[in-house]
Amino acid sequence: MSLRGDYSRAASDFSVEQDWTAHSAEEHALFRRLFERQSKLVPRYACPEWIEAITGMDAGGGIRKFDHVSKKLRAATGWEIVAVPGLIPDEAFFTHLAKRRFPLTVWLRKPEEFDYIVEPDVFHDFFGHVPLLFDPVYADHLHEYGKGGLKAMRLDAVKMLARLYWYTIEFGLVRTETGIRAYGAGILSSGGELAHSVADPAPRRLDFDLEKALRTEYLIDRYQSTCFVIDSFAQLMRETAPGFTPLYDRLRELPALPP
Ligand code: PHE
Ligand code: FE
Repeated sequence: MSLRGDYSRAASDFSVEQDWTAHSAEEHALFRRLFERQSKLVPRYACPEWIEAITGMDAGGGIRKFDHVSKKLRAATGWEIVAVPGLIPDEAFFTHLAKRRFPLTVWLRKPEEFDYIVEPDVFHDFFGHVPLLFDPVYADHLHEYGKGGLKAMRLDAVKMLARLYWYTIEFGLVRTETGIRAYGAGILSSGGELAHSVADPAPRRLDFDLEKALRTEYLIDRYQSTCFVIDSFAQLMRETAPGFTPLYDRLRELPALPP
């Protein structure tokens, strides 16, 4: 896959300057339109932790300065944002997470990609991922995930661990007092997928099952047909806390499950 970011100026950890002044008025306006569309949907479909965080982020005015948000994040949970040109290699990604640094893509999609984009852009990354970094339990979980990623690289188990990320951090659902809600960034940042994954009768919504998530393949170019529902971020934290080494050894012998 050829990536569309400019990697030529990236440091060895793939970080770049955000260069906020390079964004045109049109780009800020496009970000605002994306933000406004999603904002109409989230009260019905997003989990309360995400809603509470975005409310305090003052995020709807256009593309934000990452440093400004990092300052608030550091105070809340010790996380910060690091600007990157787009998708980055596993090792760089896990290393950032293991240092409580969340990599954020600097570029924004084109107007004709309003409804759908294949590569994550700054809207997906910012709107989908950043708010939950303000939640202490989620924040600690993602830190553990990063450390677990570096370990999975040594054990040749990244493929399995990446499936867990997909079915939780990107497309996870959570049970709340008012029903099932989304906490996955891929859902939260998508115009169509929010209602589909939370309320449409089509997708299977399974109780979170660590082994199944590690084994289940996923498709990146269509609405998810299977989602896993957690009871809380504390459950996610608790169930992923044990060492995965024996689990990887066992699951490696079993066939992967279709999406
Ligand atoms: N407990 C996992 C291991 O030992 C690491 C991990 C933590 C993975 C949190 C995912 C989420 O490999
Ligand atoms: Fe994402």
